[in-house]
Amino acid sequence: MKVSVIGLGYLGATHAVAMAELGHEVVGLEPDPKKLEALKAGVLPFHEPGLDEALSRVLKTGKITFQAEHNHHSASADLHFICVGTPQRSGSDAADTSYVMAAAKALAPHLRPDAVVAGKSTVPVGTATELQKVMTEITGFDVNLAWNPEFLREGTALEDSLRPDRIVVGAWNEHSVEVIKAAYAPILNLGTPFLVLDVPTAELVKVAANAFLATKISFINAMAEVAEVSGADAVSLAKAIGYDERIGNKFLRTGIGFGGGCLPKDIRGFMARAEELGVGSAVEFLKDVDAINLRRRDKVVALAKSELGDVRGKRVTMLGISFKPDSDDLRDSPALEIAQRLSREGAEVTVHDPVSLSALAEKEPALGREADLVEAVREADLVILGTEWKQYKDADPHALGAVVANKTVIDGRNVLDVAAWQSAGWKVIALGRSIQNG
Ligand SMILES: NC(=O)c1ccc[n+]([C@@H]2O[C@H](COP(=O)([O-])OP(=O)(O)OC[C@H]3O[C@@H](n4cnc5c(N)ncnc54)[C@H](O)[C@@H]3O)[C@@H](O)[C@H]2O)c1
Repeated sequence: MKVSVIGLGYLGATHAVAMAELGHEVVGLEPDPKKLEALKAGVLPFHEPGLDEALSRVLKTGKITFQAEHNHHSASADLHFICVGTPQRSGSDAADTSYVMAAAKALAPHLRPDAVVAGKSTVPVGTATELQKVMTEITGFDVNLAWNPEFLREGTALEDSLRPDRIVVGAWNEHSVEVIKAAYAPILNLGTPFLVLDVPTAELVKVAANAFLATKISFINAMAEVAEVSGADAVSLAKAIGYDERIGNKFLRTGIGFGGGCLPKDIRGFMARAEELGVGSAVEFLKDVDAINLRRRDKVVALAKSELGDVRGKRVTMLGISFKPDSDDLRDSPALEIAQRLSREGAEVTVHDPVSLSALAEKEPALGREADLVEAVREADLVILGTEWKQYKDADPHALGAVVANKTVIDGRNVLDVAAWQSAGWKVIALGRSIQNG
């Protein structure tokens, strides 16, 4: 098949490479000249394990090409995937669907009547109906639009794309379902569940899934707040309740909470859309989910201040700055917000991260950056673990302790071996726990 992938960010670039890996002829469209040139040169504009090798591999086969705008090449595709961003609108909680609308309008004049358009971006319920109407007005024929939400996770994006838990399609006609099914045939042949739904349900599946995951994380972080004032231990609590298979132990780790380009803006967009539909109270609890999540950042800032006293001029090292490990995505990263707040209050913040320092230099050049772990903590008055990169879990507390000014660490992700760090002389502070330091 010939497919176009419109918008080549974290989702689109991964999807384009995955489609080429499945053997399709792929044309990727991306208006950002920097990203476009990088992709053409075989360089991934962000960090995603395994995706750069896969990109080089598919570029060599000639199965994938990249361009800025539609032309005869993209117009001949059987299937067009819309993968553009839907960020939080500025000054509002709602999702900004203007990029999706712009992508649909730009595509419409080039559409073949039998081609199918599959939206993959996460959108407020009702968006597909609006897009279908606009595209049909432009083309003069009934456009085959379907919604095919994406569940990939940054850090394991390619694997998630090639071996997803399920593929969901919401469509208005059988032809759209068949074309999308054909595109995913090699994945479906592995036995992957294929769910055909109505369009509004397909749009809702993704925001509902993200709302659930965010709630689970905030639930255990709410327990952490209670544990912190009652001498209980939220890590043990999570373990104990997680044995119940109705609860499960995934997404039950207390810490500085969720971030990234999806969960925070998706729950806010969901609340805003529900409000528009007159059912705001149905998802009002997500306000608390969001607030609990953001309070964890306040907690770390407060802990840092209580350790440092006046933070001005104090040296703070942030270990990890991306919103999760195996990614350099800094969008709404809890570690970044904490680092920015301490820096604004006068601390000298140095950031270490295995892959995100160049992304940080672009986004927040004021923060100090150090690529060597030992150098990053040298003379630090306080170390904060902000992202659970494996190399921090494996770090030698003796080696790090030998160069810091003060052996105090705030484990924002509850991943350090507390006994090992304490026996190397560190004071360990962790969220949701009352750790006795000698
Ligand atoms: N990142 C994830 O892990 C993930 C997972 C599942 C779903 N999603 C959803 O996928 C969508 C994209 O997310 P992302 O993280 O890839 O965002 P992103 O910002 O990394 O990528 C969006 C890309 O679209 C491009 N773009 C904007 N307008 C365009 C247009 N009119 N035509 C063509 N390209 C255009 C941008 O230049 C950018 O490169 C969002 O709705 C997001 O919620 C993301």
